[in-house]
Amino acid sequence: MKYPKEYLEEIKLRLKVSHVVGKSVKLKKRGKEFVGLSPFSNEKTPSFTVNDEKGFYHCFSSSEHGNIFDFLMKTKNYKFGEAVRALAAEAGLPPYRFTKHDEEKEKRWNIYKIILEKYSEFCYAELISEKYSEVINYLDKRNTSKKEFDYFKIGYSPQQNNFYERLSKEFSEEQIKLSGIFYLDEKRNKYVDRFRNRIIFPVKSLNGSIIALGGRALSKTALAKYINSPETEFYKKGNNLYNINSAKECRDKEEVFIVEGYMDVVSLHRSGIKNVVANLGTAMTERQIELIWKFFKNPVVCLDGDSSGRKAALRAAERLFPLMKDDCKISFLTLPENLDPDSYISEKGKDSFLKFSENKIEIPNFIWDSYFSEVDNSNPQSLSLFEKKIKSLCSSIQDKTLGKYFLDNFMTRINELTPSINFKKNKFNKFKKQLNPLKETKEVYKQRNQFEELELKEFSLLFLAINNLDLFRKNIELISEIVFSKNSLNELKQKLIEYLLSEKFFDQKKMQIQDLEKKYKNTVDQINDNAPIKVIYSKKNEDEILSLFNEIMGEIKKIKLRKKIEFLESKVSLSLDEKLYSELLSLRNQLKGG
Ligand code: UTP
Ligand code: MN
Repeated sequence: MKYPKEYLEEIKLRLKVSHVVGKSVKLKKRGKEFVGLSPFSNEKTPSFTVNDEKGFYHCFSSSEHGNIFDFLMKTKNYKFGEAVRALAAEAGLPPYRFTKHDEEKEKRWNIYKIILEKYSEFCYAELISEKYSEVINYLDKRNTSKKEFDYFKIGYSPQQNNFYERLSKEFSEEQIKLSGIFYLDEKRNKYVDRFRNRIIFPVKSLNGSIIALGGRALSKTALAKYINSPETEFYKKGNNLYNINSAKECRDKEEVFIVEGYMDVVSLHRSGIKNVVANLGTAMTERQIELIWKFFKNPVVCLDGDSSGRKAALRAAERLFPLMKDDCKISFLTLPENLDPDSYISEKGKDSFLKFSENKIEIPNFIWDSYFSEVDNSNPQSLSLFEKKIKSLCSSIQDKTLGKYFLDNFMTRINELTPSINFKKNKFNKFKKQLNPLKETKEVYKQRNQFEELELKEFSLLFLAINNLDLFRKNIELISEIVFSKNSLNELKQKLIEYLLSEKFFDQKKMQIQDLEKKYKNTVDQINDNAPIKVIYSKKNEDEILSLFNEIMGEIKKIKLRKKIEFLESKVSLSLDEKLYSELLSLRNQLKGG
Protein backbone atom coordinates (compact mmCIF):
# COMPACT_ATOMS: atom_id res chain seq x y z
CA MET A 1 0.00 0.00 0.00
CA LYS A 2 1.26 3.43 -0.83
CA TYR A 3 1.50 5.93 1.99
CA PRO A 4 0.53 9.47 1.02
CA LYS A 5 3.60 11.57 0.29
CA GLU A 6 2.58 14.17 2.86
CA TYR A 7 2.54 11.60 5.65
CA LEU A 8 6.02 10.34 4.78
CA GLU A 9 7.30 13.89 4.39
CA GLU A 10 5.93 14.79 7.80
CA ILE A 11 7.88 11.93 9.37
CA LYS A 12 11.05 12.99 7.55
CA LEU A 13 10.51 16.56 8.65
CA ARG A 14 10.22 15.54 12.27
CA LEU A 15 13.15 13.13 12.38
CA LYS A 16 16.65 14.03 11.36
CA VAL A 17 18.61 11.35 9.55
CA SER A 18 21.44 11.83 12.02
CA HIS A 19 19.02 11.11 14.84
CA VAL A 20 17.71 7.88 13.31
CA VAL A 21 21.11 6.69 12.13
CA GLY A 22 22.82 7.90 15.30
CA LYS A 23 20.98 5.25 17.31
CA SER A 24 23.05 2.50 15.78
CA VAL A 25 26.05 4.31 14.29
CA LYS A 26 28.38 6.56 16.21
CA LEU A 27 28.42 9.83 14.28
CA LYS A 28 30.77 12.77 14.40
CA LYS A 29 29.95 16.18 13.01
CA ARG A 30 32.11 17.29 10.09
CA GLY A 31 31.02 20.55 8.48
CA LYS A 32 27.46 20.23 7.31
CA GLU A 33 27.57 16.47 7.48
CA PHE A 34 28.09 13.69 9.98
CA VAL A 35 30.55 10.87 9.47
CA GLY A 36 30.91 7.46 11.03
CA LEU A 37 31.90 3.87 10.46
CA SER A 38 29.68 2.31 7.82
CA PRO A 39 27.11 -0.19 9.08
CA PHE A 40 27.21 -1.71 5.61
CA SER A 41 30.85 -2.70 5.54
CA ASN A 42 33.56 -3.68 7.92
CA GLU A 43 35.76 -0.63 7.97
CA LYS A 44 38.27 1.11 10.19
CA THR A 45 38.20 4.54 8.65
CA PRO A 46 34.80 6.22 8.39
CA SER A 47 33.34 6.44 4.90
CA PHE A 48 29.73 6.74 5.93
CA THR A 49 28.15 10.19 5.79
CA VAL A 50 24.83 11.62 6.87
CA ASN A 51 23.40 14.85 5.55
CA ASP A 52 20.41 16.17 7.50
CA GLU A 53 19.74 18.97 5.07
CA LYS A 54 19.37 16.59 2.17
CA GLY A 55 17.74 13.90 4.24
CA PHE A 56 20.10 11.19 3.05
CA TYR A 57 22.86 8.92 4.25
CA HIS A 58 25.57 7.73 1.91
CA CYS A 59 28.22 5.08 2.28
CA PHE A 60 31.25 5.60 0.07
CA SER A 61 32.64 2.11 0.55
CA SER A 62 29.47 0.18 -0.30
CA SER A 63 27.56 2.85 -2.28
CA GLU A 64 24.56 2.27 -0.01
CA HIS A 65 22.41 5.35 -0.05
CA GLY A 66 18.98 6.33 1.19
CA ASN A 67 16.65 8.09 3.60
CA ILE A 68 15.54 7.17 7.11
CA PHE A 69 13.10 4.53 5.85
CA ASP A 70 15.76 2.89 3.71
CA PHE A 71 18.08 2.89 6.68
CA LEU A 72 15.76 0.79 8.83
CA MET A 73 14.92 -1.49 5.92
CA LYS A 74 18.60 -2.09 5.20
CA THR A 75 19.96 -2.36 8.72
CA LYS A 76 17.03 -4.02 10.50
CA ASN A 77 15.55 -5.94 7.63
CA TYR A 78 12.23 -4.12 8.07
CA LYS A 79 9.64 -4.05 5.32
CA PHE A 80 8.79 -0.53 4.17
CA GLY A 81 5.52 -0.55 6.12
CA GLU A 82 7.29 -1.60 9.30
CA ALA A 83 9.85 1.16 8.88
CA VAL A 84 7.11 3.73 8.39
CA ARG A 85 5.19 2.54 11.46
CA ALA A 86 8.29 2.51 13.63
CA LEU A 87 9.46 5.96 12.57
CA ALA A 88 5.96 7.47 12.73
CA ALA A 89 5.71 6.33 16.33
CA GLU A 90 9.10 7.83 17.06
CA ALA A 91 8.05 11.08 15.41
CA GLY A 92 4.93 11.18 17.55
CA LEU A 93 2.55 10.67 14.66
CA PRO A 94 -0.47 8.38 14.85
CA PRO A 95 -0.19 5.29 12.64
CA TYR A 96 -1.55 5.91 9.18
CA ARG A 97 -4.94 4.30 8.52
CA PHE A 98 -5.48 3.47 4.90
CA THR A 99 -8.87 4.34 3.53
CA LYS A 100 -10.84 2.52 0.87
CA HIS A 101 -9.85 5.34 -1.47
CA ASP A 102 -6.16 4.76 -0.79
CA GLU A 103 -6.55 1.07 -1.43
CA GLU A 104 -8.22 1.66 -4.77
CA LYS A 105 -5.62 4.16 -5.84
CA GLU A 106 -2.90 1.73 -4.91
CA LYS A 107 -4.52 -0.94 -7.06
CA ARG A 108 -4.84 1.45 -9.98
CA TRP A 109 -1.19 2.41 -9.61
CA ASN A 110 -0.01 -1.17 -9.69
CA ILE A 111 -2.04 -1.94 -12.80
CA TYR A 112 -0.88 1.28 -14.47
CA LYS A 113 2.74 0.32 -13.89
CA ILE A 114 2.23 -3.23 -15.13
CA ILE A 115 0.52 -2.11 -18.35
CA LEU A 116 3.22 0.42 -19.17
CA GLU A 117 5.88 -2.12 -18.35
CA LYS A 118 4.28 -4.74 -20.59
CA TYR A 119 3.83 -2.28 -23.43
CA SER A 120 7.47 -1.15 -23.21
CA GLU A 121 8.60 -4.74 -23.10
CA PHE A 122 6.51 -5.49 -26.19
CA CYS A 123 7.90 -2.52 -28.13
CA TYR A 124 11.46 -3.34 -27.13
CA ALA A 125 11.01 -6.93 -28.34
CA GLU A 126 9.58 -5.67 -31.62
CA LEU A 127 12.50 -3.31 -32.15
CA ILE A 128 15.17 -5.94 -31.63
CA SER A 129 13.23 -8.54 -33.61
CA GLU A 130 14.91 -7.37 -36.83
CA LYS A 131 11.50 -7.16 -38.50
CA TYR A 132 11.79 -3.41 -39.02
CA SER A 133 15.06 -2.70 -40.77
CA GLU A 134 14.04 0.88 -41.67
CA VAL A 135 13.67 1.64 -37.95
CA ILE A 136 17.00 0.08 -37.09
CA ASN A 137 18.58 1.99 -39.99
CA TYR A 138 17.11 5.26 -38.79
CA LEU A 139 18.44 4.69 -35.28
CA ASP A 140 21.74 3.51 -36.64
CA LYS A 141 22.10 6.77 -38.54
CA ARG A 142 21.65 8.44 -35.20
CA ASN A 143 24.39 6.21 -33.74
CA THR A 144 21.90 4.44 -31.55
CA SER A 145 22.04 0.68 -31.28
CA LYS A 146 21.54 -2.36 -29.07
CA LYS A 147 23.48 -1.01 -26.13
CA GLU A 148 21.23 2.03 -25.92
CA PHE A 149 18.09 0.01 -26.68
CA ASP A 150 18.87 -2.10 -23.65
CA TYR A 151 19.86 0.67 -21.33
CA PHE A 152 16.94 2.97 -22.07
CA LYS A 153 14.59 0.20 -23.06
CA ILE A 154 13.97 1.92 -26.36
CA GLY A 155 11.34 0.18 -28.48
CA TYR A 156 9.24 0.40 -31.59
CA SER A 157 5.48 0.21 -31.77
CA PRO A 158 4.46 -1.31 -35.11
CA GLN A 159 1.89 0.47 -37.26
CA GLN A 160 -0.34 -2.57 -37.09
CA ASN A 161 -0.34 -4.19 -33.71
CA ASN A 162 -2.81 -6.10 -31.63
CA PHE A 163 -1.47 -5.16 -28.26
CA TYR A 164 -4.78 -3.73 -27.10
CA GLU A 165 -6.40 -7.08 -27.70
CA ARG A 166 -3.63 -8.80 -25.84
CA LEU A 167 -4.04 -6.51 -22.86
CA SER A 168 -7.80 -6.83 -22.84
CA LYS A 169 -7.46 -10.52 -22.01
CA GLU A 170 -5.98 -9.49 -18.68
CA PHE A 171 -7.27 -6.01 -17.94
CA SER A 172 -10.54 -4.14 -18.10
CA GLU A 173 -11.25 -1.44 -20.66
CA GLU A 174 -11.13 1.15 -17.90
CA GLN A 175 -7.72 -0.04 -16.72
CA ILE A 176 -6.27 0.01 -20.21
CA LYS A 177 -7.75 3.43 -20.88
CA LEU A 178 -6.08 4.82 -17.74
CA SER A 179 -2.66 3.81 -19.04
CA GLY A 180 -2.94 6.56 -21.65
CA ILE A 181 -1.45 4.41 -24.39
CA PHE A 182 -4.63 4.15 -26.44
CA TYR A 183 -7.28 6.57 -27.50
CA LEU A 184 -10.81 5.73 -28.61
CA ASP A 185 -11.47 6.15 -32.31
CA GLU A 186 -15.14 6.97 -31.95
CA LYS A 187 -16.04 6.40 -35.58
CA ARG A 188 -14.83 2.87 -35.51
CA ASN A 189 -15.49 2.47 -31.79
CA LYS A 190 -12.04 1.01 -31.48
CA TYR A 191 -9.05 1.76 -29.26
CA VAL A 192 -6.01 2.93 -31.22
CA ASP A 193 -2.37 2.88 -30.15
CA ARG A 194 -1.39 6.53 -30.07
CA PHE A 195 2.30 5.64 -30.38
CA ARG A 196 1.95 3.35 -33.39
CA ASN A 197 4.75 3.56 -35.92
CA ARG A 198 6.94 5.46 -33.49
CA ILE A 199 10.14 4.82 -31.63
CA ILE A 200 9.26 4.40 -27.97
CA PHE A 201 11.14 5.99 -25.08
CA PRO A 202 9.89 4.81 -21.68
CA VAL A 203 10.02 7.54 -19.02
CA LYS A 204 10.86 6.27 -15.56
CA SER A 205 10.15 7.68 -12.14
CA LEU A 206 12.90 8.41 -9.65
CA ASN A 207 12.84 4.84 -8.43
CA GLY A 208 12.75 3.28 -11.86
CA SER A 209 9.08 2.44 -12.56
CA ILE A 210 7.92 3.29 -16.06
CA ILE A 211 5.34 6.05 -15.66
CA ALA A 212 5.04 7.51 -19.15
CA LEU A 213 6.12 7.10 -22.75
CA GLY A 214 7.42 9.26 -25.53
CA GLY A 215 7.20 8.32 -29.16
CA ARG A 216 9.26 9.72 -32.01
CA ALA A 217 7.91 9.66 -35.51
CA LEU A 218 10.11 8.20 -38.20
CA SER A 219 8.75 10.22 -41.06
CA LYS A 220 9.35 13.93 -41.36
CA THR A 221 5.75 14.40 -42.45
CA ALA A 222 4.21 13.03 -39.25
CA LEU A 223 1.86 15.46 -37.52
CA ALA A 224 4.03 15.70 -34.44
CA LYS A 225 7.69 14.80 -34.20
CA TYR A 226 7.17 13.51 -30.67
CA ILE A 227 4.08 12.57 -28.79
CA ASN A 228 3.97 11.89 -25.08
CA SER A 229 1.73 10.13 -22.61
CA PRO A 230 -1.14 12.28 -21.48
CA GLU A 231 -0.95 13.44 -17.88
CA THR A 232 -2.57 10.92 -15.64
CA GLU A 233 -3.24 10.42 -11.98
CA PHE A 234 0.26 8.98 -11.77
CA TYR A 235 2.16 11.05 -14.26
CA LYS A 236 2.63 14.79 -14.03
CA LYS A 237 5.06 15.98 -16.66
CA GLY A 238 6.44 18.82 -14.56
CA ASN A 239 7.22 16.58 -11.59
CA ASN A 240 9.61 14.34 -13.40
CA LEU A 241 12.75 14.34 -15.52
CA TYR A 242 13.77 11.86 -18.15
CA ASN A 243 16.68 9.70 -16.96
CA ILE A 244 16.74 11.06 -13.40
CA ASN A 245 16.48 7.49 -12.13
CA SER A 246 19.82 6.62 -13.68
CA ALA A 247 21.56 10.01 -13.56
CA LYS A 248 21.15 10.15 -9.81
CA GLU A 249 23.69 7.36 -9.51
CA CYS A 250 26.42 9.84 -10.55
CA ARG A 251 26.26 11.46 -7.17
CA ASP A 252 30.01 11.83 -7.01
CA LYS A 253 29.51 14.68 -9.50
CA GLU A 254 28.15 18.07 -8.58
CA GLU A 255 27.22 18.88 -12.13
CA VAL A 256 24.32 17.52 -14.15
CA PHE A 257 23.37 18.54 -17.69
CA ILE A 258 19.73 19.38 -18.25
CA VAL A 259 18.93 18.91 -21.92
CA GLU A 260 15.72 19.18 -23.83
CA GLY A 261 15.09 15.91 -25.51
CA TYR A 262 15.23 12.15 -25.32
CA MET A 263 17.88 11.88 -28.00
CA ASP A 264 20.08 14.41 -26.26
CA VAL A 265 20.13 12.17 -23.18
CA VAL A 266 20.80 9.06 -25.22
CA SER A 267 23.61 10.78 -27.08
CA LEU A 268 25.39 12.21 -24.04
CA HIS A 269 25.00 8.93 -22.22
CA ARG A 270 26.51 6.99 -25.11
CA SER A 271 29.50 9.31 -25.17
CA GLY A 272 30.09 8.59 -21.49
CA ILE A 273 28.41 11.63 -19.95
CA LYS A 274 25.96 9.92 -17.64
CA ASN A 275 25.00 12.86 -15.48
CA VAL A 276 22.31 14.04 -17.86
CA VAL A 277 18.53 14.48 -17.60
CA ALA A 278 15.91 15.95 -19.92
CA ASN A 279 12.93 18.12 -19.15
CA LEU A 280 11.36 16.96 -22.41
CA GLY A 281 10.64 20.29 -23.96
CA THR A 282 8.69 21.65 -21.00
CA ALA A 283 9.44 24.80 -19.09
CA MET A 284 11.50 23.77 -16.07
CA THR A 285 9.31 23.64 -13.00
CA GLU A 286 10.02 24.24 -9.34
CA ARG A 287 9.48 20.54 -8.64
CA GLN A 288 12.03 19.60 -11.28
CA ILE A 289 14.77 21.85 -9.99
CA GLU A 290 14.14 20.76 -6.38
CA LEU A 291 14.40 17.16 -7.52
CA ILE A 292 17.69 17.85 -9.28
CA TRP A 293 19.15 19.74 -6.31
CA LYS A 294 18.57 16.70 -4.14
CA PHE A 295 21.32 14.98 -6.08
CA PHE A 296 23.36 17.66 -7.82
CA LYS A 297 24.52 21.03 -6.56
CA ASN A 298 25.33 22.46 -9.91
CA PRO A 299 22.87 21.74 -12.71
CA VAL A 300 23.71 23.13 -16.14
CA VAL A 301 20.76 23.97 -18.38
CA CYS A 302 21.74 23.42 -22.02
CA LEU A 303 20.00 25.67 -24.49
CA ASP A 304 19.57 25.92 -28.18
CA GLY A 305 21.62 28.75 -29.60
CA ASP A 306 18.72 30.29 -31.51
CA SER A 307 16.85 33.32 -30.29
CA SER A 308 13.72 31.43 -29.25
CA GLY A 309 15.93 29.11 -27.22
CA ARG A 310 17.49 32.09 -25.48
CA LYS A 311 14.16 33.66 -24.71
CA ALA A 312 12.90 30.40 -23.28
CA ALA A 313 16.03 30.16 -21.18
CA LEU A 314 15.63 33.64 -19.79
CA ARG A 315 12.05 32.85 -18.81
CA ALA A 316 13.31 29.69 -17.14
CA ALA A 317 15.99 31.69 -15.34
CA GLU A 318 13.44 34.20 -14.08
CA ARG A 319 11.26 31.41 -12.82
CA LEU A 320 14.09 29.54 -11.12
CA PHE A 321 15.91 32.52 -9.64
CA PRO A 322 13.40 32.99 -6.79
CA LEU A 323 14.20 29.43 -5.67
CA MET A 324 17.94 29.98 -5.30
CA LYS A 325 19.61 28.67 -2.17
CA ASP A 326 22.97 29.22 -0.51
CA ASP A 327 24.44 25.89 -1.48
CA CYS A 328 22.93 25.24 -4.90
CA LYS A 329 23.63 26.77 -8.27
CA ILE A 330 22.09 26.81 -11.71
CA SER A 331 24.13 27.58 -14.78
CA PHE A 332 23.21 28.05 -18.40
CA LEU A 333 25.11 26.83 -21.39
CA THR A 334 24.15 28.29 -24.74
CA LEU A 335 25.04 25.95 -27.57
CA PRO A 336 26.21 27.21 -30.97
CA GLU A 337 23.36 28.04 -33.29
CA ASN A 338 21.61 25.06 -34.90
CA LEU A 339 23.18 22.51 -32.61
CA ASP A 340 21.48 20.64 -29.81
CA PRO A 341 23.54 18.54 -27.37
CA ASP A 342 22.89 15.45 -29.46
CA SER A 343 24.10 16.96 -32.71
CA TYR A 344 26.99 18.72 -30.94
CA ILE A 345 28.28 15.42 -29.58
CA SER A 346 27.78 13.66 -32.91
CA GLU A 347 29.68 16.35 -34.78
CA LYS A 348 32.45 17.24 -32.36
CA GLY A 349 32.61 14.52 -29.74
CA LYS A 350 32.48 14.30 -26.00
CA ASP A 351 35.71 16.11 -25.13
CA SER A 352 34.80 19.08 -27.23
CA PHE A 353 31.39 19.19 -25.53
CA LEU A 354 32.90 19.09 -22.06
CA LYS A 355 35.41 21.76 -23.00
CA PHE A 356 32.64 23.88 -24.46
CA SER A 357 30.57 23.41 -21.31
CA GLU A 358 33.12 25.51 -19.44
CA ASN A 359 31.39 28.47 -21.08
CA LYS A 360 28.39 27.97 -18.82
CA ILE A 361 27.17 31.07 -17.06
CA GLU A 362 25.74 31.12 -13.56
CA ILE A 363 22.18 32.27 -13.25
CA PRO A 364 22.77 35.79 -11.85
CA ASN A 365 25.20 36.61 -14.62
CA PHE A 366 23.01 34.98 -17.19
CA ILE A 367 20.10 37.18 -16.17
CA TRP A 368 22.30 40.25 -15.99
CA ASP A 369 23.68 39.62 -19.46
CA SER A 370 20.24 38.96 -20.93
CA TYR A 371 18.72 42.11 -19.41
CA PHE A 372 21.75 44.23 -20.05
CA SER A 373 21.91 43.31 -23.72
CA GLU A 374 18.75 45.37 -24.10
CA VAL A 375 19.87 48.40 -22.12
CA ASP A 376 20.77 51.68 -23.79
CA ASN A 377 23.55 52.84 -21.52
CA SER A 378 23.07 56.50 -22.33
CA ASN A 379 19.31 56.51 -21.83
CA PRO A 380 18.18 57.20 -18.23
CA GLN A 381 14.79 55.57 -18.74
CA SER A 382 16.34 52.45 -20.11
CA LEU A 383 18.76 52.29 -17.17
CA SER A 384 15.96 52.93 -14.72
CA LEU A 385 13.87 50.14 -16.18
CA PHE A 386 16.86 47.84 -16.02
CA GLU A 387 17.47 48.65 -12.35
CA LYS A 388 13.81 48.10 -11.52
CA LYS A 389 13.75 44.73 -13.23
CA ILE A 390 16.83 43.64 -11.32
CA LYS A 391 15.40 44.84 -8.01
CA SER A 392 12.09 43.17 -8.55
CA LEU A 393 13.81 39.94 -9.43
CA CYS A 394 15.92 40.03 -6.28
CA SER A 395 12.93 40.72 -4.11
CA SER A 396 11.29 37.62 -5.57
CA ILE A 397 13.94 35.39 -4.03
CA GLN A 398 12.35 33.33 -1.29
CA ASP A 399 15.52 33.28 0.81
CA LYS A 400 15.55 36.94 1.82
CA THR A 401 19.12 36.99 3.05
CA LEU A 402 20.37 35.57 -0.21
CA GLY A 403 18.17 38.03 -2.09
CA LYS A 404 19.87 40.85 -0.25
CA TYR A 405 23.32 39.76 -1.34
CA PHE A 406 22.28 39.23 -4.94
CA LEU A 407 20.74 42.68 -4.95
CA ASP A 408 23.84 44.12 -3.38
CA ASN A 409 26.01 42.53 -6.00
CA PHE A 410 23.82 43.75 -8.85
CA MET A 411 23.57 47.26 -7.43
CA THR A 412 27.32 47.50 -7.12
CA ARG A 413 27.57 46.68 -10.79
CA ILE A 414 24.87 49.19 -11.67
CA ASN A 415 26.76 51.85 -9.72
CA GLU A 416 29.87 51.04 -11.65
CA LEU A 417 27.92 51.69 -14.83
CA THR A 418 26.83 55.09 -13.58
CA PRO A 419 29.84 56.57 -11.80
CA SER A 420 28.56 60.12 -11.97
CA ILE A 421 25.68 59.41 -9.59
CA ASN A 422 27.93 57.65 -7.14
CA PHE A 423 28.17 59.01 -3.69
CA LYS A 424 30.30 61.88 -2.39
CA LYS A 425 33.68 60.89 -1.14
CA ASN A 426 33.62 60.99 2.60
CA LYS A 427 35.16 63.93 4.36
CA PHE A 428 37.65 61.88 6.29
CA ASN A 429 39.65 61.47 3.14
CA LYS A 430 41.65 64.47 4.23
CA PHE A 431 43.08 62.33 7.01
CA LYS A 432 44.11 59.62 4.63
CA LYS A 433 47.83 60.08 5.04
CA GLN A 434 49.86 57.08 4.13
CA LEU A 435 51.20 55.81 7.43
CA ASN A 436 52.26 52.30 8.24
CA PRO A 437 49.28 50.40 9.54
CA LEU A 438 49.32 50.22 13.29
CA LYS A 439 50.18 46.56 13.39
CA GLU A 440 51.61 46.51 16.86
CA THR A 441 48.53 48.13 18.29
CA LYS A 442 46.38 45.32 16.91
CA GLU A 443 48.27 42.88 19.08
CA VAL A 444 47.56 44.97 22.11
CA TYR A 445 43.84 44.92 21.36
CA LYS A 446 43.81 41.22 21.69
CA GLN A 447 45.18 41.40 25.21
CA ARG A 448 42.72 44.02 26.24
CA ASN A 449 39.55 42.33 25.43
CA GLN A 450 37.63 43.78 28.33
CA PHE A 451 37.30 46.92 26.20
CA GLU A 452 35.61 47.16 22.88
CA GLU A 453 37.65 47.96 19.81
CA LEU A 454 36.00 51.36 19.53
CA GLU A 455 36.70 52.27 23.14
CA LEU A 456 40.36 51.34 22.82
CA LYS A 457 40.71 53.58 19.80
CA GLU A 458 39.17 56.40 21.80
CA PHE A 459 41.64 55.73 24.61
CA SER A 460 44.42 56.18 22.08
CA LEU A 461 43.09 59.53 20.93
CA LEU A 462 42.84 60.82 24.45
CA PHE A 463 46.21 59.35 25.33
CA LEU A 464 47.82 61.40 22.60
CA ALA A 465 46.00 64.53 23.74
CA ILE A 466 46.60 64.36 27.49
CA ASN A 467 50.26 63.67 26.94
CA ASN A 468 50.80 66.42 24.38
CA LEU A 469 48.99 69.42 25.75
CA ASP A 470 51.24 71.85 23.82
CA LEU A 471 50.39 70.31 20.52
CA PHE A 472 46.65 70.07 21.12
CA ARG A 473 46.47 73.58 22.48
CA LYS A 474 47.18 74.59 18.88
CA ASN A 475 44.60 72.06 17.54
CA ILE A 476 41.75 72.18 20.03
CA GLU A 477 39.11 71.63 17.32
CA LEU A 478 40.51 68.13 16.71
CA ILE A 479 39.40 67.16 20.21
CA SER A 480 36.31 69.29 20.67
CA GLU A 481 34.54 67.82 17.65
CA ILE A 482 34.71 64.26 18.90
CA VAL A 483 31.73 62.57 20.53
CA PHE A 484 33.03 59.62 22.51
CA SER A 485 31.11 56.42 23.07
CA LYS A 486 31.33 56.50 26.87
CA ASN A 487 30.21 59.19 29.27
CA SER A 488 33.39 59.07 31.32
CA LEU A 489 35.41 59.85 28.20
CA ASN A 490 33.20 62.76 27.24
CA GLU A 491 33.57 64.15 30.73
CA LEU A 492 37.31 63.87 30.51
CA LYS A 493 37.19 65.57 27.15
CA GLN A 494 35.44 68.56 28.72
CA LYS A 495 38.02 68.69 31.45
CA LEU A 496 40.79 68.46 28.91
CA ILE A 497 39.39 71.34 26.88
CA GLU A 498 39.27 73.40 30.06
CA TYR A 499 42.94 72.55 30.55
CA LEU A 500 43.84 73.52 27.03
CA LEU A 501 42.07 76.83 27.27
CA SER A 502 43.08 77.83 30.78
CA GLU A 503 46.23 79.94 31.18
CA LYS A 504 46.79 78.25 34.51
CA PHE A 505 48.05 75.12 32.81
CA PHE A 506 49.98 76.69 29.94
CA ASP A 507 53.29 75.47 31.26
CA GLN A 508 52.14 71.84 31.44
CA LYS A 509 53.06 69.33 28.74
CA LYS A 510 51.04 66.52 30.30
CA MET A 511 47.85 66.45 32.30
CA GLN A 512 48.94 66.12 35.93
CA ILE A 513 46.98 63.44 37.68
CA GLN A 514 47.51 64.86 41.12
CA ASP A 515 45.60 68.03 40.13
CA LEU A 516 42.51 66.10 39.05
CA GLU A 517 39.33 65.10 40.81
CA LYS A 518 38.91 61.41 41.46
CA LYS A 519 36.54 60.54 38.60
CA TYR A 520 38.93 62.07 36.04
CA LYS A 521 41.89 60.44 37.73
CA ASN A 522 40.38 56.99 37.23
CA THR A 523 39.67 57.64 33.58
CA VAL A 524 43.19 58.94 32.97
CA ASP A 525 44.64 55.87 34.70
CA GLN A 526 42.54 53.63 32.52
CA ILE A 527 43.75 55.42 29.41
CA ASN A 528 47.39 55.41 30.38
CA ASP A 529 47.19 51.71 31.16
CA ASN A 530 45.25 50.53 28.17
CA ALA A 531 45.63 52.89 25.23
CA PRO A 532 47.11 50.63 22.54
CA ILE A 533 48.95 53.56 21.00
CA LYS A 534 51.37 53.84 23.89
CA VAL A 535 53.53 51.00 22.55
CA ILE A 536 54.46 52.89 19.42
CA TYR A 537 54.09 56.38 20.69
CA SER A 538 57.50 57.21 22.01
CA LYS A 539 59.98 59.32 20.05
CA LYS A 540 57.46 60.76 17.67
CA ASN A 541 57.61 64.36 16.56
CA GLU A 542 54.56 66.62 16.44
CA ASP A 543 53.71 65.91 12.79
CA GLU A 544 53.88 62.22 13.36
CA ILE A 545 51.65 62.47 16.39
CA LEU A 546 49.05 64.40 14.41
CA SER A 547 49.23 61.81 11.67
CA LEU A 548 48.68 59.05 14.18
CA PHE A 549 45.76 60.96 15.62
CA ASN A 550 44.16 61.37 12.21
CA GLU A 551 44.70 57.78 11.36
CA ILE A 552 42.97 56.65 14.51
CA MET A 553 40.11 59.04 13.76
CA GLY A 554 39.75 57.32 10.38
CA GLU A 555 39.68 53.91 12.00
CA ILE A 556 37.01 55.02 14.45
CA LYS A 557 34.95 56.32 11.61
CA LYS A 558 35.22 52.93 9.92
CA ILE A 559 34.19 51.03 13.02
CA LYS A 560 31.12 53.24 13.35
CA LEU A 561 30.28 52.78 9.69
CA ARG A 562 30.64 49.04 9.99
CA LYS A 563 28.27 48.99 12.94
CA LYS A 564 25.74 51.05 11.09
CA ILE A 565 26.05 48.87 8.00
CA GLU A 566 25.47 45.74 10.06
CA PHE A 567 22.40 47.32 11.52
CA LEU A 568 21.06 48.41 8.14
CA GLU A 569 21.84 45.03 6.60
CA SER A 570 19.66 43.29 9.10
CA LYS A 571 16.86 45.77 8.41
CA VAL A 572 17.19 45.63 4.64
CA SER A 573 17.12 41.86 4.61
CA LEU A 574 13.69 42.02 6.24
CA SER A 575 12.13 44.82 4.27
CA LEU A 576 14.12 45.18 1.03
CA ASP A 577 13.23 48.83 1.34
CA GLU A 578 14.70 50.96 -1.41
CA LYS A 579 15.56 53.98 0.70
CA LEU A 580 17.29 51.93 3.35
CA TYR A 581 19.06 50.08 0.64
CA SER A 582 20.49 53.14 -1.04
CA GLU A 583 21.56 54.40 2.37
CA LEU A 584 23.29 51.08 2.91
CA LEU A 585 25.04 51.37 -0.42
CA SER A 586 26.19 54.87 0.34
CA LEU A 587 27.65 53.70 3.65
CA ARG A 588 29.40 50.83 1.94
CA ASN A 589 30.88 53.20 -0.60
CA GLN A 590 32.10 55.43 2.20
CA LEU A 591 33.68 52.45 3.90
CA LYS A 592 35.46 51.50 0.70
CA GLY A 593 36.47 55.04 -0.13
CA GLY A 594 37.54 55.90 3.43
P1 UTP B 1 13.23 19.04 -30.23
O1 UTP B 1 12.29 19.53 -31.27
O2 UTP B 1 14.40 19.87 -29.88
O3 UTP B 1 13.66 17.65 -30.76
O4 UTP B 1 12.38 18.70 -28.96
P2 UTP B 1 14.94 16.80 -30.47
O5 UTP B 1 14.97 16.35 -29.06
O6 UTP B 1 16.16 17.44 -31.00
O7 UTP B 1 14.53 15.57 -31.31
P3 UTP B 1 15.36 14.84 -32.44
O8 UTP B 1 16.79 15.00 -32.11
O9 UTP B 1 14.96 15.51 -33.70
O10 UTP B 1 14.85 13.44 -32.34
C1 UTP B 1 12.91 18.48 -27.70
C2 UTP B 1 11.98 17.68 -26.88
O11 UTP B 1 10.72 18.31 -26.82
C3 UTP B 1 9.67 17.37 -26.82
C4 UTP B 1 10.34 16.01 -26.83
O12 UTP B 1 10.48 15.56 -25.50
C5 UTP B 1 11.69 16.31 -27.43
O13 UTP B 1 12.66 15.37 -27.07
N1 UTP B 1 8.82 17.49 -28.02
C6 UTP B 1 9.31 17.99 -29.17
C7 UTP B 1 7.53 17.06 -27.95
O14 UTP B 1 7.06 16.60 -26.91
N2 UTP B 1 6.75 17.13 -29.09
C8 UTP B 1 7.23 17.59 -30.27
O15 UTP B 1 6.49 17.61 -31.27
C9 UTP B 1 8.53 18.06 -30.30
MN1 MN C 1 17.91 16.66 -31.60
